[in-house]
Amino acid sequence: MQKIIYILTLLSLSFTISAQNSDKIKMNKFVDDLLNKMTLEEKIGQTVLYTSGYDVITGPTVDPNYKEYLKKGMVGGIFNGVGADYTRSLQKIAVEETRLGIPLLFGYDVIHGYKTIFPMPLAESCSWDLDAIENSARIASKEATAEGINWIFAPMVDIARDARWGRIVEGAGEDVYWGSLVAAARIRGIQGKDLKDRERAMACVKHFAAYGASMAGRDYNTVDVSLVELWNTYLPPFKAALYAGSATIMTAFNDLNGIPATANKYLLKDILIDKWKFDGFVVSDYTSVNEMIPHGYARDEKHSAELSMNAGLDMDMQGGVFMKYLKELIAEGKVLEKDVTLAARKILIKKYELGLFEDPYRYSDSKREKTDIMTAEHKEAARDMARKSFVLLKNDNQVLPLTSGKKIALIGPMIKDKREIIGSWSAMGDRTNVPVSIYEGMVEAVGEHNLLYAKGCDIESDDTSGFEEAVKTASQADIVVVSVGEFHNMTGENNSRAGLDLPGVQLQLLKKLKETGKPIVMVLMSGRPMTITWENAHLDAILDVWFPGTMGGAAIADVLTGKYNPSGKLTVTFPQVVGQIPLFYNHKSTGRPFDASTNYGSRYWDVSNDPLYPFGYGLSYTTFEYADMKLSSETITKNSPLKISVKVSNTGKYDGEEVVQLYTRDVIGSITRPVKELKGYSKIFLKAGESRIVDFTLTVDDLRFYNADLEYVYEIGDFSVFVGGNSQKTLEGKFTLK
Ligand code: GLC
Repeated sequence: MQKIIYILTLLSLSFTISAQNSDKIKMNKFVDDLLNKMTLEEKIGQTVLYTSGYDVITGPTVDPNYKEYLKKGMVGGIFNGVGADYTRSLQKIAVEETRLGIPLLFGYDVIHGYKTIFPMPLAESCSWDLDAIENSARIASKEATAEGINWIFAPMVDIARDARWGRIVEGAGEDVYWGSLVAAARIRGIQGKDLKDRERAMACVKHFAAYGASMAGRDYNTVDVSLVELWNTYLPPFKAALYAGSATIMTAFNDLNGIPATANKYLLKDILIDKWKFDGFVVSDYTSVNEMIPHGYARDEKHSAELSMNAGLDMDMQGGVFMKYLKELIAEGKVLEKDVTLAARKILIKKYELGLFEDPYRYSDSKREKTDIMTAEHKEAARDMARKSFVLLKNDNQVLPLTSGKKIALIGPMIKDKREIIGSWSAMGDRTNVPVSIYEGMVEAVGEHNLLYAKGCDIESDDTSGFEEAVKTASQADIVVVSVGEFHNMTGENNSRAGLDLPGVQLQLLKKLKETGKPIVMVLMSGRPMTITWENAHLDAILDVWFPGTMGGAAIADVLTGKYNPSGKLTVTFPQVVGQIPLFYNHKSTGRPFDASTNYGSRYWDVSNDPLYPFGYGLSYTTFEYADMKLSSETITKNSPLKISVKVSNTGKYDGEEVVQLYTRDVIGSITRPVKELKGYSKIFLKAGESRIVDFTLTVDDLRFYNADLEYVYEIGDFSVFVGGNSQKTLEGKFTLK
């Protein structure tokens, strides 16, 4: 019987493989036949991407003539245009009015939800729940494809270690291990298993590469990182996304070690093609081709088109330079026609895989607009993700969760807000009345009769006239919940800040409220780590809710009232002061690590080297204890992995979840190695009083890194291993790699 099953399995596997091969052969034949019919102008047309004037504008230029270019078959895709009717109208022009009727791609920035807005990606990463993160991307893709979109410019996977950089909000934080897992999960969520699935769009992993290392945290600034740092820190999430199947990749605005990413042959050919065998296509960022002129790398637009096409770029987003100059450059022998044909081919392949040649209108389905958007399931998923993304930073004297029957003063500019709460890059999310404010969430949770309210101040102004009413309101309550933070557009693209304090007079308001002597809970709404040192020293509780999305207020109420016990853990380090930046947990030791016993340890005169809150940190309403760390051996070899176990106990009075984290340190390496590196995690649920043995397995492959010769190696020698609830408070063990 076993033999029959084995044979049947082999047969079905071979049928599957041969079916896939025949599909591939069919696709290649279709695309090659089409290419053979295409003129040079039509091939160039496929490499052109224009923004419509329909929706938001996400860059410095808009060419109103995109429809004219479209009618001439000179455009391969349109972005920033949504809706079944609108996309159908443009698709109709491409399919019915051009010579070959090649359908369009429709791209859009769906970064954390389309209509049902989820927490910002950085917030989602603090949930340490990959299934929830994948589901969030799946829902975003489902809603976007219900409104004509078949290409999503996400996920952003840039590792970021500088909270001044506004785009830190769009990624998964500072760690390469976790950032790589999140990148792959978001690709799975957006694309699913088959691009022909009408509910899934093509993904576009971005921004390639090292954009998060923008100098001084100022967006669009220069990036200068060593190749070892590029390979060990900034490239792995891109590799993870591409190996998870990302159909496309977007180049970054920055220059990388002197060469703009958009024309960086090392990135686009040596790495993407030669090493990673990427078979999708590469799109520039918004006019990043043209911007090689101000970079001082291209003489003019024609030169920028030559440089980027020859470096491996396939599609020009909004620059118009491929459309204008490629034919001329080919005639002059500066660009090879075969490269343009190859670029067009890659784009046509993706259109074929999306099913656009079978049915160009498959995503422009007005029926789905009515059934697949803002459903109860989607809103519940957004509320659940928001709850999981919140990080409890402080909770002295267990002031949280709020006890019922108490009079609660809700104070601050974020309490009744419905705009900031959905953050930046909020696609087609409603910005006026649909989002649930904190006030509305709390009314639903505890009843309006238990609530008092005062705005107190604006997010950013010097107007303190609201303080008196706020203080009076606070004095009438048993406990004060004050919600402060940043504008949604103080993070996101080109929204960097040189200081990370609360804007305006919000801190002054907090100090006034502190004088009332009432217990104060701060609900922080922002897109980055903030230097909330006074707040940490003087307030009773701090809950970081980031920008929690459409259901944010409901989720905040769920946590404040104890309906959900917070479980989020930071994926970015909070500095004490901005002067410490860049500050991250997996730093190098240096030759003079800080040592209080000597004057010659790396330090500042005016502040300790410690973060305000470390990577991996987050409190719960209960407490967890770690004990009995055990290693299966003192050594690890290629053939014998190492098992690490630890006993985790819930020693408090609430059931709760804990993210158990596993770190290693390669003590001596052929290059200096970080003092800690995340190598595993396990999010567990423990009932009050419950204990559990948590097991991890390490293999030598988990200990690989890129050495000075950029070889991906592990090295014999001593290692430390750490397990704990954050990157600073851990149990430690030692082993040797032999
Ligand atoms: C923007 C962003 C990029 C986005 C693109 C299209 O400038 O850098 O993330 O996908 O343009 O809107």
